[in-house]
Amino acid sequence: MRSALAIVAAALCSTACAQGTSAVATLAPTAGNSAAGTVSFAQQGETILVTVDMTGLKPGPHGFHVHEKGDCSAPDATSAGGHFNPTGQPHGDPKGASHHLGDMPMLVADASGNAKLKFEFGPATLRGGPYDIVGRSVVVHADADDFRTQPAGNSGARIACGVIK
Ligand code: CU
Ligand code: ZN
Repeated sequence: MRSALAIVAAALCSTACAQGTSAVATLAPTAGNSAAGTVSFAQQGETILVTVDMTGLKPGPHGFHVHEKGDCSAPDATSAGGHFNPTGQPHGDPKGASHHLGDMPMLVADASGNAKLKFEFGPATLRGGPYDIVGRSVVVHADADDFRTQPAGNSGARIACGVIK
């Protein structure tokens, strides 16, 4: 019985452990803002499971993207560059046919300014290649993303930023 369990455990690990690549972005507020939290990434086959836990937001929807550069050093996070767009698409709704790879579903904060969200992102990777998001950044914006205005959905100032590590 014990050896059978060990075999099962080893089999689970050979699947789960091979897929176990993960990363996290710790988001800090930009100058004059209060939004902060964590965004966790777990590779699951060809897509990435993203888990978001943010606080300090204005209630309501906020644009939310992976930006090209892993640099949150500017007080307004403009150092993070534009949306990560390795496929040369226009900005758009991640549920639609054409959008930046970095376009993510909006974060919707509750009346207390908290937002939790879990979704599948990609195809993308945490392990190299043109769709690798490690070393890039996650940005939360002040306003809603209209998923239409170019190049960034008119979602306003960058209120929180964190490098994906
Ligand atoms: Cu953005
Ligand atoms: Zn975009």
